[in-house]
Amino acid sequence: MAEDASPFQPLLDDHEEFLAKLHELEAVLDEMMHTREANEANRELLDEAVRFFEEDLLPHFAREDAIVLPPLEAAIGRFGTLVNVVAYEHEEIRREVAKFREARAGLDASRGPWPAIQELNRHGIFAIQFLWDHFRKEKVSLFPTAVRSLPAAELDAIRAALAQD
Ligand SMILES: [Fe+2]
Ligand SMILES: [Fe+2]
Repeated sequence: MAEDASPFQPLLDDHEEFLAKLHELEAVLDEMMHTREANEANRELLDEAVRFFEEDLLPHFAREDAIVLPPLEAAIGRFGTLVNVVAYEHEEIRREVAKFREARAGLDASRGPWPAIQELNRHGIFAIQFLWDHFRKEKVSLFPTAVRSLPAAELDAIRAALAQD
């Protein structure tokens, strides 16, 4: 990796991957809202979305909470800054992921798929739109603020931590 690449490049790369996953989720939600049914392929894609949220997205948040936010909070403070906004948004999405998982389980319950499809769509679309905005905020505000505010040694430490899996 070139030395002048952003220390946050691994997180930005994650965002690009995540946007592709969210696009797939949006497509399956659209299809189910149209057909008012959830076929086997739809259900598998929903399970994949739950797996993606829990195994890819939540660990990404945990890395940002552990690696990026603490040094930035030390430099610019928490309240009234983006540090607080980003931490709050992580919590909001964690709650939404739990609701989406519950809604997915509701699809297998006996009351028929349509209420569960609407519930999945509500939580899924909220998460998609919220995340789209969240990733953009990090890209255009949080990471550039960190690059401007943190000393080079801190940025090197972040670069090293994010370079590890
Ligand atoms: Fe984030
Ligand atoms: Fe992120």
